[in-house]
Amino acid sequence: MSPKSKAQSPKRPFVYVNMAMTADGKIATANRTVHSFGSRRDLDHLYELRATADAVMCGARTVEISQTILGNGGEKFRKQRRKLGRSEYNLRIIVSGSGSIDPGARIFKNKFSPIIILTTQRVPANKLARLRELADQVKICGEREINFPAALRWLRAKWKVKRLLCEGGGNLNDALFRAGMVDEIHLTICPKIFGGRTAPTTAEGRGCSRLAGAEGFQIQSIRRFGGELFTVFSSKKRGPS
Ligand SMILES: NC(=O)c1ccc[n+]([C@@H]2O[C@H](COP(=O)([O-])OP(=O)(O)OC[C@H]3O[C@@H](n4cnc5c(N)ncnc54)[C@H](OP(=O)(O)O)[C@@H]3O)[C@@H](O)[C@H]2O)c1
Repeated sequence: MSPKSKAQSPKRPFVYVNMAMTADGKIATANRTVHSFGSRRDLDHLYELRATADAVMCGARTVEISQTILGNGGEKFRKQRRKLGRSEYNLRIIVSGSGSIDPGARIFKNKFSPIIILTTQRVPANKLARLRELADQVKICGEREINFPAALRWLRAKWKVKRLLCEGGGNLNDALFRAGMVDEIHLTICPKIFGGRTAPTTAEGRGCSRLAGAEGFQIQSIRRFGGELFTVFSSKKRGPS
């Protein structure tokens, strides 16, 4: 890309990932039924981070399993949003490359803020039509996998998303890491061990096969509240481009 065309290409949002994991690095049990295991402090932390986001994004399986509605956490956190000059509610983004997201998921019954679905050309026509009824916008961005650099630039240009919070799961996180799109990681380490070879971790999917392909982060802060460690890692690369 020439320096001129790079300067002209629209920016992507700042992307931060928030996850809770056990001391053995798991984000859920092997049977995936236990996905919420942090303290009340960790839940507040999640809503505090949402208050700093224009949009919150999750993968299809997380939306179905946790039945999250990606809300703002109520009046206390709504106030924080207002203080930060943000609208009352964050936008909600679901990633579903094949369009398999369950139309009965709780998120679709809660209409407080726009829902955007990112999908790919793999989505069958009947599913695409159904998703268009459920969401405020369905964006096809990619042939088989989401093209995240393009999708994120589109979110910024079309929906004015400057700060995008990703709340997993591991497959979505992995795609973002592989695309080099993650600027910051907020990781709460909880004093529990789940074990289980198939229990999911913060980054699942394909991962990388060479050390040189690993995304580099540095520790920004570590704080202890009660029995949990609240850590922040920042990307070694320089901000969104
Ligand atoms: N502890 C925590 O903080 C935390 C947070 C979140 C989730 N979790 C847990 O994590 C588990 C879910 O994680 P998961 O990794 O199985 O699922 P996920 O990442 O939530 O969702 C995976 C789905 O998202 C879509 N997707 C992700 N990346 C894509 C890409 N690059 N291109 C196209 N589509 C893409 C696909 O949907 P389609 O199949 O529709 O194509 C894929 O099957 C659950 O057990 C949940 O409770 C824990």
